[in-house]
Amino acid sequence: MPHADSSLIPSSITTKVDFWQHVYSQLEALLEGQRNWVSNLSNASSLIFNALAAFPSHFGTEEKAVNWCGFYLHESQLPLPRFGTKHPPPTRDTQLLLLGPFCGKPACQFITVSPPRKARGVCADAHNQHQTLIVEDVESYPGHIACDGETQSEIVCPMVLKTESGEDVHLGVLDLDCVGQKGFGEEDREGLERIVRLIVEGCDW
Ligand code: SME
Repeated sequence: MPHADSSLIPSSITTKVDFWQHVYSQLEALLEGQRNWVSNLSNASSLIFNALAAFPSHFGTEEKAVNWCGFYLHESQLPLPRFGTKHPPPTRDTQLLLLGPFCGKPACQFITVSPPRKARGVCADAHNQHQTLIVEDVESYPGHIACDGETQSEIVCPMVLKTESGEDVHLGVLDLDCVGQKGFGEEDREGLERIVRLIVEGCDW
């Protein structure tokens, strides 16, 4: 099967539970034999974005659609320079999530997650609170960062690596956005958390 076809949704799939199970199986196949996080996160964001676009009944109405799916990764996990030349260097202990592989329009390059700069936004909150956040209406979420004015709801799921010594390493988050309000609910939380575990365990960090 061509790789692109992994984001097609068979007509037999009619529920969110079956949808996320299907995406999980397709992702398992895509990740097989590859542990590089750049490659795996790139295909994961493309798969989730395009699978949702191919399954409009996920949102129950045509006015809603996925408009962004991607990763923000904690800078300590990345062998990358902290900053390019466009932004002033952050104060010494500032910690950031950096934009990772995604599918959708261009987005904020970084998100502050700890003092002395103020943590702000759904991604920072999900990362800091170590829990998935579902935002039904971004307008009513204090501190929401509007990378795209079209986004009206979102779900952000933290990526947590369990080390052999039992320590939790907070790698970053998966962010999924929708152009309608109430785009995501509990079934999406369960489906995405399972997918995020598959991604985290399927890569070398
Ligand atoms: N809305 C997010 C920022 C990321 S973009 O939506 C892609 C937030 O509030 O953290």
